[in-house]
Parts: sequence; structure tokens; C-alpha cells
Amino acid sequence: MKTKITELFGIKHPIICGGMLWLCKPDLCAAISNAGGLGNITAGNYDTGEELREAIQQTREMTDKPIGVNITLLPSFRITEETYDDYFRVCCEEKVTAIEVSGKPATKYIDQVHKAGVKIMHKVGAVRHAKNIERIGYDAVLAAGIEEGGHPLDDNVSTMVLTPRIVESVNIPVITTGGIADGRGLAAALALGAEGVMMATRFIATKECNVHPNIKQELINRQEQDTTLICKSLNLQGRALKNKLTEEVLAIEEEGKDLERIFPLISGQKVKEAWQTGDVDNAAFMVGQSVGLIKEELSCQELMDGMVRDAEEIFKRNLQRF
Ligand SMILES: Cc1cc2nc3c(=O)[nH]c(=O)nc-3n(C[C@H](O)[C@H](O)[C@H](O)COP(=O)(O)O)c2cc1C
Repeated sequence: MKTKITELFGIKHPIICGGMLWLCKPDLCAAISNAGGLGNITAGNYDTGEELREAIQQTREMTDKPIGVNITLLPSFRITEETYDDYFRVCCEEKVTAIEVSGKPATKYIDQVHKAGVKIMHKVGAVRHAKNIERIGYDAVLAAGIEEGGHPLDDNVSTMVLTPRIVESVNIPVITTGGIADGRGLAAALALGAEGVMMATRFIATKECNVHPNIKQELINRQEQDTTLICKSLNLQGRALKNKLTEEVLAIEEEGKDLERIFPLISGQKVKEAWQTGDVDNAAFMVGQSVGLIKEELSCQELMDGMVRDAEEIFKRNLQRF
């Protein structure tokens, strides 16, 4: 399957892994890249640029294929402006294939990134943001619908509508994200005019994702209605798996904005530990509605080969209808 995205990043399959704090580390990244997609190392896992460099080098010991890095430019207590500068500098020095940015546009880094020969894409939830990203000089844009895990924009537009709206509004390649977990989603994204897909939630239930088996089983058991939007009161809504903790957060939010009570519940440390201990009730797991499409744990190779095969099959079958 050849698209503008497979050409841009030099990958076999038009499938990219989205940033996932605490999960997108060398093992998973290398497995996805070796299987023909674009793996992801999430910079926020590392407190310094040098730690990120070590992770990139560790990944390169496991794969010689293209790799990506996510840099989430959101206000953070932990990550300073200088550390963001270091993340970008290290990605340029290490010449990763692509940087996926979310949050604030990476305006001040664009020239530096391009001079290093690195590609850069940004995740947006609105046409106006996509146009801005194109104007700044990004190489590609990710259309992220409200279905997505993480922090969907509070415009609340679905992937199904956002993708074609962005495709008709910009000239750079568009990648669909939010709600994609199988070959049907890949075929749909291509039909909507996208050049590829980004997935995150689906990659958690793969053999190479290092989380406790309880969590993988929980994702397999859960359905599409099992996520909820938390932290709207903080103006940074996040989609998370419904559980005891999200119920607690929503109950506090109902009483009003209360940072002091909410922050300890959603702390990064809490979820970082829970991915490893398998405690499915007491952390905010920021997964998307695509959780309803996960039926079994697969290797990254099985998952992505199967997706491409199924998407091709769908296109062939539908051609016969005309
Ligand atoms: C557990 C988890 C953690 C995430 N962390 C980040 C992050 O740190 N930065 C970011 O830009 N997006 C993050 N996301 C969003 C994904 O990169 C991606 O945009 C989104 O999950 C796509 O929707 P899907 O989960 O339906 O595939 C996260 C998603 C998940 C599931």
C-alpha cells in the first residue's frame, strides 16, 4: 500500500503509533517500526534530552527502520521550556524520521527540524488549527477526532467529519487518528481522503506493549461506550476508561473546579504505576473509544499485516459492487 505518508516517512504500512506517555518506549517502538509502521518514543517519558537520546539509541539497537518521537507541548510542572528545547535538539541530532507534536504549535523549532532533515507533523482537532499548521510549515497534519484517547479538542468533532473537512482545507498530507483499530478503520480513513492512520489505544493490547496483563484483558473486555471525558472543568478534557477513579473525578467536577482534589487523582505517577501493577480501578487510563474494537492481544506484526490485508480486501470487495 503506497500513500503520500508511506513515501514521506519511508515506511511499508501507512500506520503510525501515536504518543502514549509511559507506554511508547523502545521495545514497542522498535516492534512497530520492524513490522512496517512508524513506531513512537514519547519524549515526556524522559526527564532530560539525554535520557531521550538513550531511548532513541536503545531503539536503534533493535531496529534500523524509521522511528518517530512524540513531543507534547502542553503546560507541565515536570517539563520545562529548556527541556522541550533539548527534546527537539536531540531529535535533530539523532535524526529521527519524524516528530509528532501535540498541544502548542512548534513554530520556534520548525527551521531547526527541517535543517536536520527530520519531518514534523501536528495533531489537531479543528480545520482552523490544521490551516495554521500548514502555514507554519509542517510536513503533515493529524486529524484527531473526539473519539481519540488522550486529550481531544473540545470542539468535539468526530473523526468521520473532521478528516474530510481537513483534507479539503489543506494541501499537506492528512493522517486520521481517533477510533482506528483495524483494517475497516484504515480503509475508511483512506476513503475519506487521509494518507494513513495513527493509532494508540489498539497498540496497548499488543504482545510488545509492556503493561500488566490485567490491563490488556480489561481493554479486550471493555466496549466502545466504556470511556468518558474527564477534566472539562480544567479546560483540558481527557478521554479515559470509565472506572472507580474517573467516577470520583467526575463527582468532584460536578461540585465545581477543584484543582487541589483533582490533581492527585490524575497524577502521572499514579497511572505510571497502575500500568505496571494492573490495578484497573485506580488510575486515569486515557484510552479512546476504539477500545470497543479490541478483541484479542496480537503482535504488532500480526496487527498491522492484518489491517492492511483487510483494508485491501474491503476495497476489492466494494469495487465489485459497481
Ligand atoms: C494511554 C494513552 C496515552 C496517550 N498519551 C499521549 C501523549 O502523551 N501525547 C499525545 O500527544 N497524545 C497522547 N495520546 C493520544 C494518542 O497519541 C492518539 O492521538 C490517540 O490515542 C488516537 O486515538 P486512539 O486511541 O483511538 O487510537 C495518548 C493516548 C493513549 C491511549
